[in-house]
Amino acid sequence: MSTFQGVDHAGIGVGDMDTALDFWSRKLGFTEVFFDYTGVVPGLEEITKKKEVRARIVMLGNRFTTRLGPGKIKLVQRLDGDGAPPYPAGIGYGEVGLAEVCLHTLNTEKIFRELVDNQGCKSLMEPLSAAVGEHQIDLDIAYIADPWMGKVEMIDWKGLWTSRPAAPRIEGVNHVAFGVHDMKTTTDFYKQLGFNDQIFESKEFFDPMAPWYQVGRALPGHHMTLWLSGQGAGIEPVRLTPLWEDCRGEWGHVGPMDFGIGVQNIKKAVAELQSLGIEMHSDIKTLDVGVSEFKYVYFKDPDDQYVSIVESSY
Ligand SMILES: [Fe+2]
Repeated sequence: MSTFQGVDHAGIGVGDMDTALDFWSRKLGFTEVFFDYTGVVPGLEEITKKKEVRARIVMLGNRFTTRLGPGKIKLVQRLDGDGAPPYPAGIGYGEVGLAEVCLHTLNTEKIFRELVDNQGCKSLMEPLSAAVGEHQIDLDIAYIADPWMGKVEMIDWKGLWTSRPAAPRIEGVNHVAFGVHDMKTTTDFYKQLGFNDQIFESKEFFDPMAPWYQVGRALPGHHMTLWLSGQGAGIEPVRLTPLWEDCRGEWGHVGPMDFGIGVQNIKKAVAELQSLGIEMHSDIKTLDVGVSEFKYVYFKDPDDQYVSIVESSY
C-alpha cells in the first residue's frame, strides 16, 4: 500500500460556523461529524507568521460518500486576530492558491436546481454536459457559491463510474483544484505522492468560466489536469497563461483554502517526504479532538500551497 492515500479533506475557511454548517451539513449532506475542535492550532506559526493561531475546526463526512467522493470537508473558523481573513482579491479561477472544492454529485441538474431554486444557494455556473480527455469521459457539471463566495463544483462523472441507482444526492469530495506556477513541476511533484492516474488534460479556455474573471482583465489561457490516486480524493492543478497574482491569501481565509493528504503512519510519511527533499513547516502536531487524535504537518509543495499530510483514527 502506498504511503500516501489521496486527498483526505478539503479545508474551507468560514466566517461563522452556524452559517457554514447550515450550508455544508443541512444543504449539502455533510452530516457526519468526525470532530469539532476549538482551541490553539499549532504548526502554523511559519505559514501565518503568527505566534499562536486559534480556530474552531469541524471535520465533516458526507453521509452518501462513495468511491468518487471519498474526501471530507474541514471547516475552519479563525478565532484569533480579526477572525476569518477575507477571500483573496482577484480570484477568478486558477490563480496560485486553492480554486475550488468539487463534490461528486449524482444527477447534478436536479441537485443544482434544488439548491439554487429552493435552498437559497447562489449559482456560479448553470448545469452543462461535457466529455473530457482522450477517453471522452462524460460528465455533468455545475457550480454554486458557498456562503462567502467560495467556488463549489458539482460533477456527476457519468463516464467514469456507474453509480449505484439512487436518488439525486451529493456523494462527498471528488477533488480540489489549485493554481500553480508550472504544470510539469507540480504534476511531477504530486506523482511522488501517489497522484498517478490522469483523468484528463485540457489546454483550452473553458468558456463557461469567463464571467468569473474581473471586467477589464483579459481572459487567461487555461491548462488543467485532473489526477486521482488509488485512494482518497483527487487534485486538479491549473496553470493560467499569463500567470496572475498570488491568490493563496491568508491561511483560514473564507472559501477553499487548504487540503490534506491522508496517510496511515505520519512518521513514516514525513521520513518519505524528507527523503524526497521536501521540507516541513513544523514537526508533527497532534490535536486531541476528544474521540481520538488528529495528527498533521504542513509541508512545502512547489507553490507553497497550504497543504498537509494527516493521520487520523476516527
Ligand atoms: Fe474541478
